[in-house]
Amino acid sequence: FSRQRLLVVANRLPVSAIRRGEDSWSLEISAGGLVSALLGVKEFEARWIGWAGVNVPDEIGQKALTKALAEKRCIPVFLDEDIVHQYYNGYCNNILWPLFHYLGLPQEDRLATTRSFQSQFAAYIKANQMFADVVNKHYKDGDVVWCHDYHLMFLPKCLKEYNSDMKVGWFLHTPFPSSEIHRTLPSRSDLLRAVLAADLVGFHTYDYARHFVSACTRILGFEGTPEGVEDQGRLTRVAAFPIGIDSERFIRALEINPVQVHIKELQETFAGRKVMLGVDRLDMIKGIPQKLLAFEKFLEENSDWRGKVVLLQIAVPTRTDVPEYQRLTSQVHEIVGRINGRFGTLTAVPIHHLFQQFETCNSGTLTGQVVFQQLYLAGHPSLKPGDSIDVALVTSLRDGMNLVSYEFVACQDLKKGVLILSEFAGAAQSLGAGAILVNPWNITEVANAIARALNMSPEEREKRHWHNFTHVTTHTAQEWAETFVSELNDTVVEAQLRI
Ligand code: G6P
Repeated sequence: FSRQRLLVVANRLPVSAIRRGEDSWSLEISAGGLVSALLGVKEFEARWIGWAGVNVPDEIGQKALTKALAEKRCIPVFLDEDIVHQYYNGYCNNILWPLFHYLGLPQEDRLATTRSFQSQFAAYIKANQMFADVVNKHYKDGDVVWCHDYHLMFLPKCLKEYNSDMKVGWFLHTPFPSSEIHRTLPSRSDLLRAVLAADLVGFHTYDYARHFVSACTRILGFEGTPEGVEDQGRLTRVAAFPIGIDSERFIRALEINPVQVHIKELQETFAGRKVMLGVDRLDMIKGIPQKLLAFEKFLEENSDWRGKVVLLQIAVPTRTDVPEYQRLTSQVHEIVGRINGRFGTLTAVPIHHLFQQFETCNSGTLTGQVVFQQLYLAGHPSLKPGDSIDVALVTSLRDGMNLVSYEFVACQDLKKGVLILSEFAGAAQSLGAGAILVNPWNITEVANAIARALNMSPEEREKRHWHNFTHVTTHTAQEWAETFVSELNDTVVEAQLRI
């Protein structure tokens, strides 16, 4: 009995590589959502193909890294600096990412981006072809190939050109925007056609799936059906597969000793104050400035809470070579400084802003899970009531799903902290019953939600938590991965029957 092989292809491998010498590397596994999802899936033998996040120009280094990665079932795609600049910083993170999240570029970047569009798009196709070459080299008959995210929209097409029998799935971890937004992309049709080469295309929510289908009907003139998109008798199946987390792992971690130590530290630091937690990659889509302004408004309007509540905002730097991210960093520092100056005292400030890359994290699908886990777990009963995390604030302006909200819920079974969640995060569709949903652009509404969360009765907290905890523990990452892959297998069988 041999298990089906699953080739998972994503821009970033689930390990970060640090070079120690000419031919030696040390690797650190990052336990992102995708990794733990696939670790839990026993039916498949998963292999990972992706970029290790480092530039390795020399052959000795490449060979050594390939060998080290093989032990972790990872296969590297080597991208040189120019490709990284044009494909990753440029087309992926300066064009597709803001567009898919409905964020326009600042005026000063807009024209420059328009001008460099063609060369960045060419680099994008080239990079996707490089991923396809590696997949093709390792592919064996019967394997399932699962491509991930906006970095690799051309990959399904490249793979099918190599071998039309390959079973290919593609999953988008970001929102897919309304067709009116997608229409503005110069490469709108090429991207859609390339994705449609896959057998199965998946999204986090029905809305994103519907947007994709209508982009295909309006822009390409193809037929949209309840099953997916049809072009001359060939069907690409399109469906929603909301991701989850490995909730067991979070709950188990409650018992671990180092976690207990962190909890104690936290307890001492914030003794006597209510703690609100924000955990985000430092990204425009996360609405961090908006969150800070809402907290400021809350302090303005609720003078009795001053000195009694602290916002612990962890922002993990990401994509630091993209100008828009650099501007965001200074903007956030500036706002934090201003609010702390305004409401701080000699001994305490209202915002604790940790701006750092934790050792344990790579900015994978999930950020710094281990560290954050320790912070979420501050809801442990060893804490005195009122000392631990009471509220989590997720104010994304748009977010494919947002698993930080899931992680928080998983760790709050004892404390029953309140989740304030943006209605523009995919997670709002699943955690809406238990969270306080807010429009992050409306800082008055968010400020009121903070007051409501801090004053909420234990009964209401309990009831809301129960809704979300049930969802998070039953809709897990493992189930998500299994459903997608078995749907992909079925789709291919059905397509063969149709011929
Ligand atoms: C989002 C994307 C992922 C990406 C992650 C971190 O979650 O959907 O594909 O890996 O952000 O971003 P980075 O650019 O550091 O890989």
